[in-house]
Amino acid sequence: MNLKDLYINFFIEKGHKQIPSAPVVPENDNTVLFNTAGMQPLIPYLMGQAHPYGKRLCDYQKCIRTNDLDEVGDSYHHTFFEMLGNWSLGDYFKKEAITWSFEFLTKVLNIPVEKLAVTVFAGNEVAPMDLETKELWMNLGIKEERICATKEDNWWPNLELPGLCGPDSEMFYWRSEDPVPEKFDPEDSRWVEIWNDVFMQYNHNEDGTIVELPKKNVDTGMGVERTTAILEGKTDNYESSIWTPIIEIIEKVSNKKYQDNKKSMRIIADHLRTAVFISADPAIIRPSNVGQGYILRRLIRRAIRHAKNIGIDINSNWEQEIAIKILDMYSVYYKELVDNRNTVLEVLNNEKVKFNRTLEKGLKEFNKVTINNNDIDGITAFHLFDTYGFPIELTEELAKERNLKVDIDGFNKKFKEHQELSRTASAGQFKGGLGGHGEVETKYHTATHLLNAALKEVVNKDIHQKGSNITSERLRFDFNCDHKLTDEEKKKIEELVNNWINEGLEVTFKEMSKEEAIKSGAECMFIEKYPDIVTVYSIGNEQYGIVSKELCGGPHVNNTKELGVFKIKKEEASSAGVRRIKAILEEK
Ligand code: ALA
Repeated sequence: MNLKDLYINFFIEKGHKQIPSAPVVPENDNTVLFNTAGMQPLIPYLMGQAHPYGKRLCDYQKCIRTNDLDEVGDSYHHTFFEMLGNWSLGDYFKKEAITWSFEFLTKVLNIPVEKLAVTVFAGNEVAPMDLETKELWMNLGIKEERICATKEDNWWPNLELPGLCGPDSEMFYWRSEDPVPEKFDPEDSRWVEIWNDVFMQYNHNEDGTIVELPKKNVDTGMGVERTTAILEGKTDNYESSIWTPIIEIIEKVSNKKYQDNKKSMRIIADHLRTAVFISADPAIIRPSNVGQGYILRRLIRRAIRHAKNIGIDINSNWEQEIAIKILDMYSVYYKELVDNRNTVLEVLNNEKVKFNRTLEKGLKEFNKVTINNNDIDGITAFHLFDTYGFPIELTEELAKERNLKVDIDGFNKKFKEHQELSRTASAGQFKGGLGGHGEVETKYHTATHLLNAALKEVVNKDIHQKGSNITSERLRFDFNCDHKLTDEEKKKIEELVNNWINEGLEVTFKEMSKEEAIKSGAECMFIEKYPDIVTVYSIGNEQYGIVSKELCGGPHVNNTKELGVFKIKKEEASSAGVRRIKAILEEK
């Protein structure tokens, strides 16, 4: 059995419910481009909202971190990774979390205690030293010399970031042939962190104050790639069973050996794997020059450049072969890869064709403009971007290989002049930060259900959701419809939604099996994404009856009167046969 299955089985046995991995693009959170940790889709529940699946949860979550994108090429950086996690939402706390972490590591993964070490929180003005955790580890058999207390590194996410936070305890594994030293030094790189138990009991407000949450939670995270490599005794993650099938295909299509081409092959494997997951996401991301689409473009183009570096015929089907292997490996775990298989292959091929057309000329141009080993000014960098489709990071990477500098400020200035949507604006989002599941987003979420119901009533009962995206400014809803909505229809929809709001309808939820959910007549889109027991949210009251019934994970407001005034701002085509509505809620 592989690590993912072992982990999930273990925590199910300990009374946890497995929740499905959320999409890589956060559904109701525009503060980050991608989910970067398992806890991110769970923020509202860690903040105190009841989770439909209960208080003990576990999952494997697709995560994407792109701030280290240019570091990929070494033995352990990846842009995409899977994070295993188990959560207590105000249920168990330190004792169970630590005991189970220890049991999983030593009994299920069979890691000898001698090869383990842990860190605990050393204390600051908010919380005292975590003596309880230290004692728990010692009672389980970890020697005192193998426990190190730190202040900075044992607070998650860190001491500065606003949002959910708390002291944590990290577990380390001795990855070396050298004898294990008696005393644990977390700075010694032969000790590798494999798991983090966060005791998430605070919220760090924007104004800097730190307040206790209504419930004490546990949030844990274990990286699948790193831990798998460790268990298989590999110091290079890319030599573990997660990567070797992909690397083998790259060796085949390039007719080269991994051992002689590590950097480029790692970049190709990593970037294409991430690109596969982004293009398969329900958020429908396509290569572009902004936001997630820009990341997707950079990943594909950088992979192509490295494919060329190692002599792959970039006009051949090489990327399809690699992507097919990735799709085959992960399809058992992620249904969207099955559903969107052809789309993924098309996205990769289209972007390849587009970039291949100009790559050769672009590289020639690059050589021409750097012929005197001169640095690259903003106008030239922009020219490479605009005419040859070189993402600025690609120009930077090429320049770095020759010890040249690129005038990024100059590039940005030029870029801004030429594009309304400047990349720098969206680059702000890369930095991340947690949050974005506030009250406003919750209201928009409920308003989305009302809109869906109103569309069925006013336009056509066969209308269903094709996509949804919520920010604190608006909702966006995609649905199947063969015509542009008339002004009359839009007006009726608004009136109906506002009627329901003014009626003060109750929002309630019920747990049931999928079968029951379908039988109950609930709207059951994407039902395969949900576990066996699902929650169905109903909106209505006795007089009005049920106006909306949808299978959904929440969160929602308790009563529609909290929503304010519903207004449609825009109705437009989204793709063939799919229309898109953007709507807002205004205060009464
Ligand atoms: N949220 C914690 C992490 O990402 C578990 O490390």
